Amino acid sequence: MVGTAPVRPTAPPALGAVLLLAGCAGRQTPLAPAGMQAGATFDLFTLMLLVGGAAYGAVLLFLAIAMWRASQRPLAEPQLEPADPGLRAALWLWGAAVVTGLVVLAGGSFVVERALASARTRETLLVRVTAHQWWWRIAYRDPASGAWIETANELHLPVDLTARIELGSSDVIHSFWVPNVAGKMDVVPGRRNALDVTPRRIGWFRGQCAEFCGAQHAHMALDVKVDSAADFAAWLAAQARPATAPRDSGAARGLAVITTGPCGLCHVVRGTRATGRAGPDLTHLASRRSVAAGLFPMSRGAVQGWIAQPQALKPGTMMPAVSLSAADADAVSHYLVGLK
Ligand code: CUA
Repeated sequence: MVGTAPVRPTAPPALGAVLLLAGCAGRQTPLAPAGMQAGATFDLFTLMLLVGGAAYGAVLLFLAIAMWRASQRPLAEPQLEPADPGLRAALWLWGAAVVTGLVVLAGGSFVVERALASARTRETLLVRVTAHQWWWRIAYRDPASGAWIETANELHLPVDLTARIELGSSDVIHSFWVPNVAGKMDVVPGRRNALDVTPRRIGWFRGQCAEFCGAQHAHMALDVKVDSAADFAAWLAAQARPATAPRDSGAARGLAVITTGPCGLCHVVRGTRATGRAGPDLTHLASRRSVAAGLFPMSRGAVQGWIAQPQALKPGTMMPAVSLSAADADAVSHYLVGLK
């Protein structure tokens, strides 16, 4: 038999504690809730941790007492002891504690379930999110006109108002997950699942596809901005407008390349002849924080690099490399970063 030394954890305990605490803050964590739904599930998690932790602690304590008592006695044949009235009472007490713990958990779970379901009555905004390999199409129904306003990869939500997010998929199963704001919901082809979200804190958060959906699953992120109601209304009004006209001859050349070349077959730039529907809406591309579903921060370099080498930057992406002359590529990226 070949002996193997037991593997010891090498990280010092202090490092573990730091990592544990680092998980309690940030823009992609369920441990720093910034929404009603995330808060309710976090409270339920805390309750389960306390009840489960108390039960686990009690079991370990009894085990330690039993081992200590056994070590104090000489080794002897085990024999049935006569029922001790103290032991009997302790067992009844333990049984009562277990039942109480289970009743508390069931009660807490019921209350949280009701709180999540009650959000349905307060919906003020309808958002359709369609998952694609590997990006998010996002459409808002304008509360005033009823028209649909489309964007991609960046979800804006008004604070303290409840939005209903209808989730659909165009290809495989994905999962919509913005942990600071709400729980997870699967996104299934041929179905429309719905998730109510009521953000409670203004700020930037990060969502992530949470169901393996192919090679670039990890690069299927979603920037989420929670705005005041007024800022949200202004943002939505800006997104509803058609693209700004090219501001100089370089941008005009970029637009011409997009509308006469292959770009416009897959992408829409509202107000121009680029009306493709396969890829993300580019009308206000430069108003977003990132390029290619969270792959890079928005910049001209990132846009130009993405157009030139999509397969090198995100292997498997549906975006094909388009062969453009250097001057055309320059003009296209110049035009695109002007689309605020
Ligand atoms: Cu989409 Cu993973």
